[in-house]
Amino acid sequence: MKIIEVQNYDQMSQQAAKIIIETVQDRPQTVLGLATGGTPLGTYTYLVRDHQLNGTSYKQVHTVNLDEYVGKAPSDEQSYSYYMNKHLFEPANIPKTQTYLPNGLAANLEEEAERYTHTLQSLGGVDLQLLGIGKNGHIGFNEPGTSFDSETHVVQLTPSTRQANAKYFSSESEVPTQAITLGIATIMKAKRILLIVSGIEKAEILYQCLYGQIDEQIPASILQKHPHVTIIADQEALSVVNQKAEAH
Ligand code: F6R
Repeated sequence: MKIIEVQNYDQMSQQAAKIIIETVQDRPQTVLGLATGGTPLGTYTYLVRDHQLNGTSYKQVHTVNLDEYVGKAPSDEQSYSYYMNKHLFEPANIPKTQTYLPNGLAANLEEEAERYTHTLQSLGGVDLQLLGIGKNGHIGFNEPGTSFDSETHVVQLTPSTRQANAKYFSSESEVPTQAITLGIATIMKAKRILLIVSGIEKAEILYQCLYGQIDEQIPASILQKHPHVTIIADQEALSVVNQKAEAH
């Protein structure tokens, strides 16, 4: 695992965007695996800025998102589809037909999860997967205890994840209780993974993810086994890692 330490959120976003831009410039048909939430917002802002200033083209890129809430239509401001259209797909001119998210409105959610796995396979898999991490170690919506062998599936969101995401809703009770997410095994098939982490509240889990036991109770710990992971983390997020290193 390659760890890049940066000072703050802005530098993390800039560095992550740089890696994505270089990947797309190097291979215009790149399949990007994308995440939502607070962490990647700055990265998307830098991608859009570069697209506008330097003309990096996303015309041939395909994107596959990690997850979507069950029951949220793309027109719903709280859906991940809406988030992606607003923050990246539209401003970076990524053709809509080349962007994929699970359909949270599907009548049969299990079938939808399977269909999404096939979509991913038909694209030849993800070249570069952008990931954030939850305070409980989740990646995508794979909560602690999820099997490392899991493929795309429907999940019940834990109280802690619903609480963490409540800031995007008017109240916690409005946060959906289910989502469709790529599984851990699916995520691990990405050729390269770029994990971005910022803030003191992620410091303990980042330490456990990097140096703790590889355990299904800490889903992100499986990343220790991936051959090509780059972690860009700011000083706050790396504070526990650095404290423990000093103590030794
Ligand atoms: C989002 C996702 C989640 C988030 C994680 C961190 O698509 O899959 O795993 O990456 O919940 O969220 P933030 O960045 O809001 O702290």
